[in-house]
Amino acid sequence: MSDSPSGSPSLTRRPEWTALEDHRTDALPQPDLRELFAADPGRAERYVVHVGDLRIDYSKHLVTDETLALLQELATATDVFGQRDAMFRGEKINATENRAVLHTALRAPRDAVVEVDGENVVPGVHAVLDKMSGFANRVRSGEWTGHTGKRIRNVVNIGIGGSDLGPAMAYDALRPFTARELTFRFVSNVDGSDLHEATRDLDPAETLFIVASKTFTTIETITNATSARSWLLDGLGGDEKAVATHFVALSTNAEKVADFGIDVDNMFEFWDWVGGRYSYDSAIGLSLMIAIGPDRFREMLDGFRIVDEHFRNAPAEANAPLLLGLLGIWYGNFHGAQSHAVLPYSHYLSKFTAYLQQLDMESNGKSVDRDGRPVEWQTGPVVWGTPGTNGQHAYYQLIHQGTKLIPADLIGFARPVAELSDELKAQHDLLMANLFAQGQALAFGKTAEEVRAEGVPDEQVPHRTFQGNHPTTTILATELTPSVLGQLVALYEHKVFVQGAVWNIDSFDQWGVELGKVLAKRVEPALTEGADVPGLDPSTAALVAAYRNLREV
Ligand code: F6P
Repeated sequence: MSDSPSGSPSLTRRPEWTALEDHRTDALPQPDLRELFAADPGRAERYVVHVGDLRIDYSKHLVTDETLALLQELATATDVFGQRDAMFRGEKINATENRAVLHTALRAPRDAVVEVDGENVVPGVHAVLDKMSGFANRVRSGEWTGHTGKRIRNVVNIGIGGSDLGPAMAYDALRPFTARELTFRFVSNVDGSDLHEATRDLDPAETLFIVASKTFTTIETITNATSARSWLLDGLGGDEKAVATHFVALSTNAEKVADFGIDVDNMFEFWDWVGGRYSYDSAIGLSLMIAIGPDRFREMLDGFRIVDEHFRNAPAEANAPLLLGLLGIWYGNFHGAQSHAVLPYSHYLSKFTAYLQQLDMESNGKSVDRDGRPVEWQTGPVVWGTPGTNGQHAYYQLIHQGTKLIPADLIGFARPVAELSDELKAQHDLLMANLFAQGQALAFGKTAEEVRAEGVPDEQVPHRTFQGNHPTTTILATELTPSVLGQLVALYEHKVFVQGAVWNIDSFDQWGVELGKVLAKRVEPALTEGADVPGLDPSTAALVAAYRNLREV
């Protein structure tokens, strides 16, 4: 690829890039973790970075001091910190949408000044947080009543993508902090079964719908919200006035909210400089705030801010998002790794990886650079994973003994949540023993000699040998509190930023989801009305015909 119009060399022609390629080739077949630890007794303590309550151990990575220094040189050459500062300053770094990228302003303190187009956005952020707090308190206390005067006992968030995954993930993560007397459900899928299952046992008179949509045009959300309104009105005798106390909206689009029939006084606003996948600490978190209360929500924002400040101020060698981003680049761009596993050893983080899938894959799933030229380097990885212990009995086999290199994050906590019985609390050591054992097995494996020494017959030895050298990061914290959750999310947000900055891609647009949306709208009449769809390819036309025939059977 030629150099960019601005004259900076293409990424793969930078000397810092080729130095990493050479370094990788020199170390072939690849560094051995047993040898690296044997050569450096202090490695386990030195390769740890602390941010807030997180202890991040990266000692089990296929890197040396030289690798890390070379990666940092790449970050310097691509001006990652300069790009970071431009983001925090509110510059329009989302060029294809001509937008600032300021999710960090959502957790800025009241007295901070963050300007977009010359206007300080922080007072607006806190005005919305205050409005959310007032509303959340009224729902939690029972003061906010529904159309019949009954108190609200059920909260149903209707949204999709960033308007669903964040609050749904965080609600699960922080369950021990939630108002247990209230029921929370999250509806995203346009499959009517989702809304059906979420509402079938609820009393409409006690149910509040939160319609969450940045654009308020997303077809899945508007369709579900419309059906929810019918469900409500059917259940409450058809009085349209019921909508006012049973529906609120979270959006940037007041006009569309009003068109839908929701009073804009019951709209909680956010702004175009908040990307959907970076939005659950904005008004999009209203359902979470009702669940955990405004004080806990603010503790979570404080957690985000701790990592924002760290990312802004920590030197390169101790900057956690920078390190994690660069390690991902090391594997993706120099070892051919295609995916990255995130494996929480916490049941409460069951949806964490699904949340990160949107954060990472919608941000960095790009194949042209900021100048629109095809990239010649790997960009974002496939992010996947489920809670670790379950994964151990499903797909860990492939990580241990398959042919693919899969870097993984193991996330665990020192203490179980307070409300468990003593017996269940005692299980926590077993849970964490699994995390530590997996990290060890992945890194150090089991040699053929070790297997033989156990008396295993020769023909079985290859099958029972573990090659090791599977890299992991271990992230440990004391407990999964609101602040710690905020810290974890901000850590990954900024890691994704670092990678996009090095790859010279726009991490903040998502044009790739548009085509499918447009085609779905075009195909729908063929299903509902049997209309001819011009330009339908033969394969899809045959599928549509088969679907229609099957439906009639
Ligand atoms: O289709 C992708 C997307 O635009 C995501 O980026 C976004 O989080 C999601 O749809 C939902 O969008 P909205 O909040 O506007 O309904």
